[in-house]
Amino acid sequence: MEIDRESLVANLGGAAQVASMNSEAKADALEDFMMERLNETAPGNGMSGKYPTMAEVEAQIETRRHRRGVGNLFLSHTGNVKKLPPMPAQPTLADFFKLRFNVTSNHVLQSANLAMKNGMAEEVVLACLLHDTAQELIKVDHGWWSAQLYEPYVSEKVAFAIRYHQALRFYADPAVGYEYPDLYRVLFGEDYKPAPYIEAAYQMVRNHKWYMETRMVTVNDLYSFEPGVNPEIEQFTDIIGRHFKQPKEGLGADNSAVAHIWRSIARPDSPL
Ligand SMILES: [Fe+2]
Ligand SMILES: [Fe+2]
Repeated sequence: MEIDRESLVANLGGAAQVASMNSEAKADALEDFMMERLNETAPGNGMSGKYPTMAEVEAQIETRRHRRGVGNLFLSHTGNVKKLPPMPAQPTLADFFKLRFNVTSNHVLQSANLAMKNGMAEEVVLACLLHDTAQELIKVDHGWWSAQLYEPYVSEKVAFAIRYHQALRFYADPAVGYEYPDLYRVLFGEDYKPAPYIEAAYQMVRNHKWYMETRMVTVNDLYSFEPGVNPEIEQFTDIIGRHFKQPKEGLGADNSAVAHIWRSIARPDSPL
């Protein structure tokens, strides 16, 4: 992935500000920048080169004020957080996309758009559309969190593909053109081996009837896209209508087992 260094530096507040950041803060900012500015990046290998080791990644932990798995809504790497717009009384999935999924929405919309272009089944397109959105709340185990968030409203197959895309991301499948992502060498260290539960999940999914649906989420889960492609949530209104059971009371007000998770995303400034 090629990074537009000038706009990255500008985004971070200028060269002097960047010079004052430690390497971990820069890595964080780089990751956010890639999520936020997908349309400014182009395919390439600009990120290849020197990757940290696992020991170097671990040594970075005590150089920052936050833990690595904090959700996007709860942290700003570039100045203070901003006031969030109010949510409607009965929020829909589209409302969350427009008002709360600020960092992840472009990435998942691009992924779903690509899946659509690639002729994927509607449930795969929907899984691509939803797969990373729980990262607004928490990044650790985001596949499991995202699947839990959507489970009451989508088919078992869609929830399965969302949950296990996280594990499959660590394992190449040359038969469908999926390679281990360079980004993971940056985030986890070049000598990283996935945790046993990830390996076990991969082995289970590899032999599951829904392997290919899950794999297709990873195949369409790209960080580099055509410049200027900015799909809107409305492109997916029909698919959402057919495959997402929107509660009439609104997400978070429906008394489902996950209503509090939706409320936490809607109200991240609540002190308790
Ligand atoms: Fe993901
Ligand atoms: Fe993703």
